[in-house]
Amino acid sequence: MTGFEVHDEMGCAGQKEWWSGTLPTQIHDKQGRLIHVRAYEDKDFEGLKEMYDTFEPKGLESGLPPPDDQVRLRWLHYMISDLGNILAIHKNQPVGHTALDLSCTPSCPEYLIFIRKGFRDCGIGTTLSTAMKAIAKQSGCEKVVVTVRAANTRAIRVFEKVGFVLRGGIDRDRDMELCLRPRRTTRPRACKK
Ligand SMILES: CC(C)(COP(=O)(O)OP(=O)(O)OC[C@H]1O[C@@H](n2cnc3c(N)ncnc32)[C@H](O)[C@@H]1OP(=O)(O)O)[C@@H](O)C(=O)NCCC(=O)NCCS
Repeated sequence: MTGFEVHDEMGCAGQKEWWSGTLPTQIHDKQGRLIHVRAYEDKDFEGLKEMYDTFEPKGLESGLPPPDDQVRLRWLHYMISDLGNILAIHKNQPVGHTALDLSCTPSCPEYLIFIRKGFRDCGIGTTLSTAMKAIAKQSGCEKVVVTVRAANTRAIRVFEKVGFVLRGGIDRDRDMELCLRPRRTTRPRACKK
């Protein structure tokens, strides 16, 4: 995905790169490593595939990378061709990947994020989530949704830090959403004299 239709305040449509104005950027993580944050490019495919081949945990729920090699390859091809993808890169290798599904429900995309073992708890997930929030907002999304295991308190902490709130009942999986537009409030009634 290199571009998509955005609508300005007047509802006029135009094409532009979906990360435009927000990326690329770079940070030093909590261990002092230089991390580049930029949109996915074709040259990243092998590095990203290797990240997911060695990723732990894999799983069948909560958007984790599928354990089966062929299913995981199809899943990766789907993400890089249909979703908006941002990478965290260390020494030319992807160490973090976040994706926003702007193709099906552009106003309410689903959010995915994965950080390579050895790079977790170093601020990279928070950086990627903050970048995605800015991009989703400038793209005119009303909200972003994510499903997370209730036991995944680190992920919940990161999502809450950037503004996601828990929705629905307490279950093994929790739905979270990030509202990007202020809710419409009813116009205050004129005071009666
Ligand atoms: C969840 C994940 C994306 C978070 O990214 P990250 O780079 O590790 O997160 P960060 O370092 O930016 O922030 C972690 C925060 O959680 C806190 N934290 C760490 N362990 C925690 C725990 N067990 N419970 C609660 N908070 C925890 C950290 O202190 C930090 O908060 P702080 O910055 O206020 O101190 C990453 O760890 C990951 O990829 N995990 C495996 C895959 C996964 O769970 N993906 C999400 C599926 S929905």
